[in-house]
Amino acid sequence: MKFGVDYYPEHWPEERWAVDARLMREAGIQIVRMAEFAWAKMEPEEGNFDFGWLDRAIETMGREGIKTVLGTPTATPPIWIIEKNPDMLPVNNEGLRLGFGGRHHDCQSNAYYRQHVKRFVTVMARHYSDNPNVIGWQIDNEFGNSHLNLCMCDSCKEAFHKWLEKRYGTIENLNKAWGTVFWSQTYSRFDQVPVPLPTPNAHNPSLLLDWKRFASDLIVDFQRQQVEIIRKECPHHFITHNFMGFADKVSYFDLAKDLDFISHDQYPMLFSKGKYPVSPPSRLAATLDLMRGIKQKSFWIMEQQAGPNGWETMSHSPRPGQLALWTYHSVAHGADAVVFFRWRTCLFGTEQYWHGILPHSGEPERRYEEIKKAIQELAPVMDYFKGGLPDSEVGILYSYDQNWAFQIQPHHHELDYKEHLLGYYEAFYDANIPVDMLSEEQDFSKYKLLIAPLLFLVKPELVRKLEDYVKNGGHLVLTMRSGVKDWNNAVIPETLPGYLSSLTGIRIPEYDCLVGIEQAVRWNASGLYDLTEPVSKWADIINLNGANALAYYVKDYYRDTPAITMNCYGKGITYYVGTELGPEIMKKFITYATCKADVHQIIISPEGVEVTRRKGVDGYYIFVLNHTAISQALEIDSGWQNVLGAENLKGNKLVLEPYGTAIFRAC
Ligand code: GLA
Ligand code: ZN
Repeated sequence: MKFGVDYYPEHWPEERWAVDARLMREAGIQIVRMAEFAWAKMEPEEGNFDFGWLDRAIETMGREGIKTVLGTPTATPPIWIIEKNPDMLPVNNEGLRLGFGGRHHDCQSNAYYRQHVKRFVTVMARHYSDNPNVIGWQIDNEFGNSHLNLCMCDSCKEAFHKWLEKRYGTIENLNKAWGTVFWSQTYSRFDQVPVPLPTPNAHNPSLLLDWKRFASDLIVDFQRQQVEIIRKECPHHFITHNFMGFADKVSYFDLAKDLDFISHDQYPMLFSKGKYPVSPPSRLAATLDLMRGIKQKSFWIMEQQAGPNGWETMSHSPRPGQLALWTYHSVAHGADAVVFFRWRTCLFGTEQYWHGILPHSGEPERRYEEIKKAIQELAPVMDYFKGGLPDSEVGILYSYDQNWAFQIQPHHHELDYKEHLLGYYEAFYDANIPVDMLSEEQDFSKYKLLIAPLLFLVKPELVRKLEDYVKNGGHLVLTMRSGVKDWNNAVIPETLPGYLSSLTGIRIPEYDCLVGIEQAVRWNASGLYDLTEPVSKWADIINLNGANALAYYVKDYYRDTPAITMNCYGKGITYYVGTELGPEIMKKFITYATCKADVHQIIISPEGVEVTRRKGVDGYYIFVLNHTAISQALEIDSGWQNVLGAENLKGNKLVLEPYGTAIFRAC
């Protein structure tokens, strides 16, 4: 089971299904995902179930050897459920109750809705538990999508109070942890605590952080209800959910714990900004690496872009070769199966212009042929590295809590947790150094170099874990605003970086927000005064207390004071970067740190050509991906054997066509 499509039989006449199934089989499709929005079709009125059409669609697919992944349709409760209980419509963060007409018009804490979910999912799971053509389940669809304005209804408010009571035990503990003495916010009962609806100015940052945590836990709990039903009814089926990369409404580390494996929806043209038709390849790679990092495990792509994207406005048309390239890219970063969204472009509804493999006409054209060819090439080799990870020597900590804390208080209006983190990621990406993303709970010890960006919130266990890591020889990079707050989002009364002081060998008595200020640093690690390089957003003003300086600020009253430091601690090293580095100084710093940590790059490649790897049974499988519209040449390692795409190798010189790809084996 390696390639699939998202299919909506309910959108097409039944006579067409067999034609679709045949075309799919001819293209090498072995999986369909179906039914994730079809509640109204499966239960047109309460208790009146109609699975006949879906049974026949599954059967039609099965006849062509295609297996089905079923989606539970809980992202689209039908109108009759809403009519019976309009209270289950969600309330946004302006207090406005949202209406029926899109999707995800559900409050996930609503007891009445939960009852319906339980009732429907149980019936559906029982109906399909023994169907030989059904292999697994996707719960709901893209949790957190369309929940941008988190639900602030009375039911969620009550659930928030229960959540707080569980976390703090007594209201006195909450008052203390949040510092509610400020502005007379002291509570005497949990049920007095507000949800963060508009207030004349701003809510307590501790309340806001707990609200985000609560909202994340609510989604995890909503999913768990369905997971428990399906585990019981369908013990032989896998359970997954389709994640959305860097989306942040729910902690994916938590959401993934109940799943067999995670899936991800990869739309390279969706998150492109401004003039770029495609997200920068490094971002696409980072997204895939985060998805692999969630469980430190290979994953599925449940929706891979198959044509131009668009609801109201549209993306470019993917250029010849791009759809294939992106398919290879997903596989290169750890996808064991790729399911394309969607099979055929819809004739009606919101997604009329969200193009599938087939155009509106249903006639196979260029995109069909390109995807078919990519499947035919990849399918035979994918078992060689199934489940394989890149064996990264570098790890980057990714934290929902830190991200949320900076969303609440960004310090500088342009400071963004994800962007700051990606600055580091990109330096490794450009050097073809594989990177793992991991949570604070995962194992640090296997990494030679660990980046923990913006470690704003700290707790004693985390500090100890980092100290042990460095003591035992790890090299750690901490960045600005580390060690500022406790886990409740209240400031720690210590000279910064607080509990991280002995690890870093520095003191930070002052800092400067660089809003409207240009600052730069000079890199001084070599003892020579190099050119100065711009930095931005923030400057921690650092006193050395055992550490050495690698770079200095060049302007203002703290000119010539350290901006980047290095401290030997136990058998390892801790770096501290007191500012946000521009790309040039970042490159210098990362080159220095990787060299010290003896981290290896796979190979040097021209800009726009990515090289990454997966471990296979008999060595590493190296993926070379040309993300550019021009052909590119590079020298490959003489020990590499061609697996795919490098038949015209001249000596060690590989030439890739525009958007071309190759796979090698390195033993
Ligand atoms: C998301 C959803 C799909 C579809 C696509 C295109 O990723 O999961 O159901 O809506 O976007 O809009
Ligand atoms: Zn609600």
